[in-house]
Amino acid sequence: MKHIKEFSKRANSYDENTIIQKKVATHLLSKVKYNPKKILDLGCGTGDLNLKIDWEYEKFIGVDSAYGMCKKHPKNDFVEVININFEDKKFQQDMLCDTPFDLIISSSALQWAKNIEELIEFTSKISSNIAFAIFTCNTFADIYKLSSLETFLPDAKELVEITKKYFDIVYEIKIYRLNFEDNISKFRYIKKTGVSGGERKLTVRQTKKLIETYPHKYLEFEVLFIHNKK
Ligand SMILES: C[S@@+](CC[C@H](N)C(=O)[O-])C[C@H]1O[C@@H](n2cnc3c(N)ncnc32)[C@H](O)[C@@H]1O
Repeated sequence: MKHIKEFSKRANSYDENTIIQKKVATHLLSKVKYNPKKILDLGCGTGDLNLKIDWEYEKFIGVDSAYGMCKKHPKNDFVEVININFEDKKFQQDMLCDTPFDLIISSSALQWAKNIEELIEFTSKISSNIAFAIFTCNTFADIYKLSSLETFLPDAKELVEITKKYFDIVYEIKIYRLNFEDNISKFRYIKKTGVSGGERKLTVRQTKKLIETYPHKYLEFEVLFIHNKK
């Protein structure tokens, strides 16, 4: 998985270059109106969610397939970090033996799942509470349109329908805009945060053309927030 190598490689600069992901994590946590004691974080990264939790918990398990990210994540008697793919069957089996969890949380990570429905179904077997923030298909929509590439990101409404099969949920779709001085810094930002989609990358020629012609001062991100009615 190319994007995982990218995340691992960029773990050191990740925290300085993820303004949107940080806002997303804060907004996601504001949706959690109770104090879950046993939490599983899918795609935990360097630990932004863990660091932002302001209530006492008994166990926090963070899972991430990028070693560089796991290395930077806080660890202590209450915080365990597992360096593995969250779609790995053996990992899922282990979590099934550790049920129930009070909350399965995930910020800016589930859009990378190969089979997101299977993953959501798995979470329904280990908890009745979820809080997910997922980047969806209108993220960088203009870039995709201009370059004729197809986005790898999931459709928000389809995700809502899928999740409704397993949980009683409410959702919000939020658009974030990030302003830049010039087009080169926009494309540098995309590269540094590892959100460029890994497998379906732009060629040098396409990137050059986009840098010259991209019409907006901002990059636009679409994020789906989905959680229980609780
Ligand atoms: C954009 S970062 C978000 C990190 C963190 N949740 C945050 O809000 O700062 C996405 C993370 O998901 C991880 N990730 C992507 N696909 C994964 C998978 N299949 N299994 C485990 N982790 C994965 C990446 O390694 C990366 O650390």
